[in-house]
Formats: sequence, C-alpha cells, structure tokens
Amino acid sequence: NDTRTPQYSTGDKTSFAYVSARDRWPVILTGAIDDVHRAVSEAEGEEKRAEGKKIIEQLATLKYELQHDRKLSPLPDDGGRDIPGYNQELTQLSTPSWFNLPWLYSECYLYRRMATSFSLSKHWKYYDVFSRQKMSTFKSSRPAVLELASRYHELITQMSHKAEKPEQDIEEAEKMLFMEMCEICLWGNATDLSLLTTLTYEDIQKLQGSEARKASEKNIIINDLGAAYELLKKAKKEGKKERRVDIVLDNAGFELYVDLILAGFLLSAGLATSVVLHPKSIPWFVSDVVPGDFAALLNALANPQPFYTTSSDDDKNAGKTPAPLSQKEVDELFFLFQDWSKFHAEGQLILRPNRFWTEGGSYWRLPTSDPTLYEDLKESELVIFKGDLNYRKLTADAMWDPTTPFTQAIGPMGPGSGVNVLALRTCKADVVVGLKAGEDEKLRAMEGGGGDSGARKWAWSGKWAVVSFSGGS
Ligand code: F6P
Ligand code: MG
Repeated sequence: NDTRTPQYSTGDKTSFAYVSARDRWPVILTGAIDDVHRAVSEAEGEEKRAEGKKIIEQLATLKYELQHDRKLSPLPDDGGRDIPGYNQELTQLSTPSWFNLPWLYSECYLYRRMATSFSLSKHWKYYDVFSRQKMSTFKSSRPAVLELASRYHELITQMSHKAEKPEQDIEEAEKMLFMEMCEICLWGNATDLSLLTTLTYEDIQKLQGSEARKASEKNIIINDLGAAYELLKKAKKEGKKERRVDIVLDNAGFELYVDLILAGFLLSAGLATSVVLHPKSIPWFVSDVVPGDFAALLNALANPQPFYTTSSDDDKNAGKTPAPLSQKEVDELFFLFQDWSKFHAEGQLILRPNRFWTEGGSYWRLPTSDPTLYEDLKESELVIFKGDLNYRKLTADAMWDPTTPFTQAIGPMGPGSGVNVLALRTCKADVVVGLKAGEDEKLRAMEGGGGDSGARKWAWSGKWAVVSFSGGS
C-alpha cells in the first residue's frame, strides 16, 4: 500500500526536506527546550522539576543526534499503538541516519519521539510543549479575528432572513459564500508555526486580512472548489437527511478559528447537517490542533476581554499595552462562542481524534492501517484535508511529475475509494501534482522560484496554493 514513486528525502540537497532538517528542526527543538525550561522554573514540587530537567536532556540529545547525523534509535514504548509501526519501518529502512531518510517518515518520527519524553513521565504526560506558542500567535492575529467575527455575525444574521428572498438569489449567494469561506479557510493555513522560523508576526498579520485574501486569489493555481460545492448542493437537493462534512484539521489558533467559521457556515446554510473535526492526539508539527486547543479557543472567545488585554511577553518586551476591545467586538466574539458551543452541544460539531493521523506513513496506508477510520470517512459527503502536511500525506510525499493527476497521486484514496477528498493546501513543500504542462517551469522561472538550481523553491513559502478534488465513486 505504498507508492512506487520515490519519496522526497532529507539526503537531497535541492529539496526542502534537506533545508528543513538542517535549519528548521534544530530551531524547533531549541524552542521546545526553552519552553520546558520555563515550565520547570514555574513548576511546583521537586519530583516534577527533576523530571522536567530529564525531558530537557532528552530533547537536547535528540537535537544533538539530528545535527550530527546520527542513526535514529527505535522509539521507546509508551504504550501507543503506533510505536511498533514506527520501529518496524525503521528496521525496514535499515536504521538510517538523519540526512538519509524519507522526509515524511523522519519528520513524523521527530515529533513522535519528542512526545515519548512527555508521555513516559509522571508529571508531564499531558504537557503540550507548543501550547504557549500556539496561544500567543493566536493573540497576535487579533485584527483578522475581529474582522472575521464581524463578517460572520453579519452573515449568519442575513441567512436567518433568507426565506424572504427569491430562490435563485439565495443559491447564487450561497455558492459565492461557500467559495469565500473555503478561501478564508485555505489561506488560514499559510500561517502555521513550523514556518515561523522565517516569518515575522507582521508578515502573519498581512497574510490574514480580507485585502490580502483578494490579492491572493491569483495565487491559487488549481481551484476545484466548484466541484466540491456541486456535490454538497446535490446531496441537499436530493433531500438526504444526514449529510456530514469532515475536516481533517491542521493548525490551531487562527487556522482552527477559520475552520470553525467554515463549519458554522456549512451548518447554518444547510450544506451539511453535521461537521466532524479530526484533531491530532499528540503535539504535532508545532502548531497542529490537539483537543485542548479547541477548548482553549472557545474559552478565549467566551471571555475575550481578559484574553486580549493581558499583556503577552512580547507586548511587555516592546513596552506595549494592548487596547481594550470595544463592546461591539466583545459581542461579536461572544456570538461565535455561543453559535459554535450550540452546534457542539447539539452534536452537530464533533471532535474525533484518532491515532492514525500521527502515524509515520502516508494516507495511502489508510485502508489497511485503519479500516475502521476508512469506513467512517466513506460515510462523509466530503472530507476536507487542511494544509501542507495532509497534502504531503495524501500524495505520499513522492516525487511525482507535477502534471500527474491528483486522483492518481493519492492512490488508494482516489476514485473507487468511496471517499470524496478535497485538499485545501498552501504549498510549503516540494510535492505538487495536477499542474498544467509548463506551469512548474513558469513558476520556477519567476523571482525566487528556484530557476535552474534544480529546487522547486516557489512551492516552499506558502505563497502559492492548490485546491484539489477527487470524487470517491
Ligand atoms: O514545509 C514546511 C513544513 O513545516 C513541513 O514540514 C510541513 O509539511 C508543513 O510545513 C507544515 O505545514 P502545515 O501546518 O500546513 O501542514
Ligand atoms: Mg500543521
């Protein structure tokens, strides 16, 4: 159940795999070490502090092994059902060293290995080493959060009066809104934290507003949103009672916020009767959603004034005091909280974690690795995969010719699988499929696109996006 097309490797110096392993992962590990240091200094109890220090040592060892291109050691058994799979694969790869590995496997191993240091402890089992960073970045996306809260409030209010309008007007508006919501949801992915090692907070804010979104429309090089909309509309027209949409989540904070905006829109417009969200079960790729992030987001919205006016460390360092929210802003954020909590309480918005999402392999393995989850996804009208890593996993992170059809590159998840797949992805890695002939060459020839270096640099920064659909029947 794996592709025969070779995968991107950390050994290939022209790939983003190599750059990631050499430059980005050590920075991410240093950030994690700093976070635990801080948590240890704030921790109560000698035993807990001693354990925290041991975790710091383990993370430092991991960083040393990576930077000195040592062999990967088998993962210690923390009881996770995925551990044997990780270790078998390591043996099959003949216990390689860090710069001679499939990129996908090695990056998953990195986060899984970090997680074992915590899960095998007594006092730090459920500690999320990236939580602080996720929350503070969400705070810094305040302008875009407020803009969207206001837009959402207006939209939902308008939709409750839609019975007064002619049917055709409603349908046209619905389609346009669907496109807009999906695009918001797409660009929310441009701001994940694992790329923060190169982006500034100002860059992030620029990426998030509605102006930025309009300007970025031309950067969506494949856009299959129309096909996805038709599918949902058809199911609604046919009067199907249960119509479920799944979102395989990517990042917490702003991206989760826009995912919930999309979910709320789909439910309010009747394009879905339930939305199932799939978070990760362990801290993953820095910013990915774990169930605790969902709760933290709702808490922030329930009580936005203290959330936004308590100075963060960055604010303190810059001598800034955040301005209080206006009453209208507080009300609009609270409206979101009420709306989403209602959907959640009524079982229309469901959080469904599964260990499959943090295994080391691609989604080509889904039917054999987790048949129950596979069957479950077949029940859905549409499964939306968010972000870069999910796209890499769908396409097995393989070195496809960029004109390979998406339906072919996702292998067992393609036509005949019974799963309707929609990938919303800003490009942050080498793999890309479904392009028109000559498109890759054109993008490479643009400034910063990679030229004839042999590297597909245009696809590394999140500037370009692809929205690809595959019907499961
Ligand atoms: O390419 C950079 C990178 O960190 C990849 O390692 C990973 O695929 C991706 O970005 C994470 O991005 P996302 O949060 O969009 O999946
Ligand atoms: Mg992510």
